[in-house]
Parts: sequence; structure tokens; C-alpha cells
Amino acid sequence: MPVPLVIDTDPGIDDALAILLALASPEVDLRLVTTVHGNVELARTTENALRVLHLAGRSDVPVAAGARESLVHPQPERAGHVHGTAGLGGVELAPSPAAVDPRPAVVALAELLMTSPEPVTVAAVGPLTNVALLLRVFPDAAARIGRLVVMGGAAWRGGNVTAAAEFNIWADPEAAQAVFGAGLPTVMVGLDVTLPTVLGEEGIARFAAAGPIGNRAAAILQQYLDHARTAYGTTGVVVHDALAVTEAILPGTLGTVRRDVVVDTSLGPERGRTVAGERESAAPTAVEIAEKVDSAATVEFLVSRLASLDG
Ligand code: BDR
Ligand code: CA
Repeated sequence: MPVPLVIDTDPGIDDALAILLALASPEVDLRLVTTVHGNVELARTTENALRVLHLAGRSDVPVAAGARESLVHPQPERAGHVHGTAGLGGVELAPSPAAVDPRPAVVALAELLMTSPEPVTVAAVGPLTNVALLLRVFPDAAARIGRLVVMGGAAWRGGNVTAAAEFNIWADPEAAQAVFGAGLPTVMVGLDVTLPTVLGEEGIARFAAAGPIGNRAAAILQQYLDHARTAYGTTGVVVHDALAVTEAILPGTLGTVRRDVVVDTSLGPERGRTVAGERESAAPTAVEIAEKVDSAATVEFLVSRLASLDG
């Protein structure tokens, strides 16, 4: 039985790949996409989610729009310089015939959680505003989340948007603190494991050659490839969100250690840092932090699954 999956996302180039990866994976059944502000404005992340699903012929998957802004302090800046001003690396995908689900994201998510006979996995690969709102508005539904896999933070490395903070946490630290402190079965997939996991040009060429879906996915990556070269000094792309969704699809892909995590919500230079405990923790609010990754194997998994979309 495939595991019901929700992706909460701000597409976003690596978000787009993460959605395509889920659609290519028989282990999960992508039941809902919820969108959030983040890499670009909410209206764009929502439109991009619709278009990515349509690219894969899956405009039947509902897309519900979520939070326009972070919980307390407005997000200081977006990431158009990384993802392109429209969020998909300057690539214009065909519009979807599907309309946005009329329900707010938290309502759609709560209804799915309350009605699913199977535990639902939620992969949150954008700022955590929607998940924090779910916890506040529909705590009984939030308590039914089977697994929450978060792309965000860094336990042992610095940040990627400031010296201290990773982008998704920095975009809404108060939400991240609420989510990490909630005692949900959470895996934090942070920069510790995403930065070493680089999708190279050879892999991109493989799915680009597989057919029209792979070709578009590769086109979306081109601008990101240029950014990665400058920002990280890599000759490939760091597909953060796709790695988190890999862990959602195949639990245990990443080696984790259970630790306490606190998010810095001060307004100074440390804002958005995820501070992980030195020791393992048995506290009910501790989080499984991903610390070990077989980067070559996970990249091969991603490439072969994306190529299979055109099969
Ligand atoms: C995260 O930030 C966003 O720009 C990416 O989509 C990813 O979710 C990486 O820090
Ligand atoms: Ca993202």
C-alpha cells in the first residue's frame, strides 16, 4: 500500500524536483500539495505547483494555498536570485487546466489527516508557517501526522542565507520553533546532509534525454546550476528538497540521531539558527536529525526516478 503523502512547498526549483520525484515513486501516493510563501510570493508558488503537477500529467492532485507571510515578522527577502523571479529558473511551464483548491491549505491538510485511514507523511520543504498554523488551529489533525519530514536548518554547519540560518527556517523562525517543539515524529533534513548531495550535469543529462518531462525538469535546473557554481562552488545542483522527499518516500534513507533542537528567534545575527543538542535525547519533543547520507546513492535514485517519468 503506498503511503499517503502531502508536500508543503514553495516552488522553487528543488521543490519542483521534489514534487516530480514523489510522482515518480510508487511507494507514496501524493494526495495533496499545499503551498506557502518562501522562495517567491505565495501566488507564484501556488501557480508553480499547479504547473509542475500538470507537466507530469497529474493535475488531479489538489493544490491548496497556504500562508502568504510568516507568523510574526515578515520574511526579510525572497530567493528570486536563486530560483528566478518567477521561481522556476526562468522556465515558463504550460498552465494547468486545474484550479486551486478552494480550501485554505490548513483546512485541506486537516481534512486529509482526519479522514485518512492510513497515517499520512507530510514533507515540508518550505518555510514552516503552514505546519505551525495547523498545530495551532487543528491540533487534533496535526497529532495524526504519521511522519513529518522537514527540509530545513543545519545542526553542525552554518547557514546558507546568513552565517547562522538556513533559508526555510530563517523565513519563519517562530513557526519552525513551534513545529520542532511540538513533539511530532519529525525528521530534520538540513544542510548537513543536503549540501554534500550534489546532482551533477551527467545525471541531469540522463533525465533530460528521457523525454519531455525530464527535458523540462532539466531546463528548470539550468539557472540553479549557475547559482550553485557561484554560491557553493559546486559543479552541480544541491537538490535540498528532493533529498527530504527521498527520506519521506524511503524512511531510513538518511542516518539520523535524535536530539533536542531549539530555533533562535532573536532579531540579531543568530536569527533562524537551529541549535542542536550535543547528546542524543529521549525527550518527547526531540527531533531525528539527519546526519548521514549516501550522496551518490540518493542522487542515482533521484536521476533514475525522474527519468522514469517519461517511461
Ligand atoms: C531551501 O531553501 C529554498 O530556497 C529551497 O527550495 C530549499 O527548500 C534550502 O535552504
Ligand atoms: Ca523549498
